Amino acid sequence: MSEFTKVTRVALVGSGFVGSSYAFALFNQGLAAELVIIDANRPKAEGDAMDLNHGLPFASNMRIWAGDYSDCKDADLVVITAGANQAPGETRLDLIGKNARIFQSIVQSVMESGFNGLFLVATNPVDVLTYATWKYSGLPASRVIGSGTILDTARLRYLLGERLEVDPRNVHAYIMGEHGDTELPVWSNVSIGGQPLADYRKTHGQPTDEELNRIFINVRDAAYHIIERKGATYYGIAMGLARLTKAILKNENSVLSVSTLLTGEYGLEDVYLGVPAVVNRQGIRDLYELHLTDEEKQKLHHSASVLKEAIASIFPS
Ligand SMILES: NC(=O)c1ccc[n+]([C@@H]2O[C@H](COP(=O)([O-])OP(=O)(O)OC[C@H]3O[C@@H](n4cnc5c(N)ncnc54)[C@H](O)[C@@H]3O)[C@@H](O)[C@H]2O)c1
Repeated sequence: MSEFTKVTRVALVGSGFVGSSYAFALFNQGLAAELVIIDANRPKAEGDAMDLNHGLPFASNMRIWAGDYSDCKDADLVVITAGANQAPGETRLDLIGKNARIFQSIVQSVMESGFNGLFLVATNPVDVLTYATWKYSGLPASRVIGSGTILDTARLRYLLGERLEVDPRNVHAYIMGEHGDTELPVWSNVSIGGQPLADYRKTHGQPTDEELNRIFINVRDAAYHIIERKGATYYGIAMGLARLTKAILKNENSVLSVSTLLTGEYGLEDVYLGVPAVVNRQGIRDLYELHLTDEEKQKLHHSASVLKEAIASIFPS
């Protein structure tokens, strides 16, 4: 294909709850010209492609089809949402064994197509599987991105916005670390419309420490609460993946909390975990290293050590 006829193509691997919700978000936002859907359950991919195509008269033009790995050759972005999800009571790290095996074959098949774009991974445990995708693909780490704490960060911004009666888009706050039980809120860097949360609390005498802690626990345990009620979570993450797709394909240089390889930042290396990073058409452009308190640093290191142990279960040194 010449550079004049090249159109943006997203390949989605895994069209379950998360994948099909992402496809719907991508289509509604008109973020790519082509979407190819690949799933081990071929009829599911075909059904989703048919169903989405029937929405074409109501949306922007997009070519959507159920395909196979050879279609990844011309993809700008491969988004992986394939694999098992958490059963009630199961942690994300419990999924490692099942999903690592699936990933080895998926990433190998994508690379054999001649793919030369970016990977975006959402399957859990996302930090470990993004690391695995980086290793299996041989691509530079900047081109292998995990959804990381993008959803946890969104949940924190939503709950803080609700508590303070402020549009969540004006709440700057991050959850960092594992997308899972050891994640942490970075309270020291929260600002509301530019005002540091610490200043706001001094003036207003609230939210109290206890309230903030309750908000964080709600964020950390949100997936468990949703899974108990409806079996899976998918709309929030699908919108987060669409947001990341937009930042990548439209070369936005957006600061988003994603899972990326640390190479000395925060005193950590050889681990993928959620940190704020600048995302554009090349993938991860930069990491803005936040100034953390000693307690936050210690929690981040704990999260990294749990992830490193999980990574070592797939890639023993
Ligand atoms: N990162 C996040 O914030 C976040 C949020 C929610 C869910 N998730 C994760 O996303 C993943 C998917 O969740 P879901 O609810 O969509 O699950 P699901 O079971 O509904 O869908 C998984 C899909 O993957 C397909 N699949 C399985 N093995 C495959 C293979 N080898 N090749 C191609 N396709 C294959 C299945 O056929 C199925 O359609 C889970 O790991 C879940 O934990 C991540």
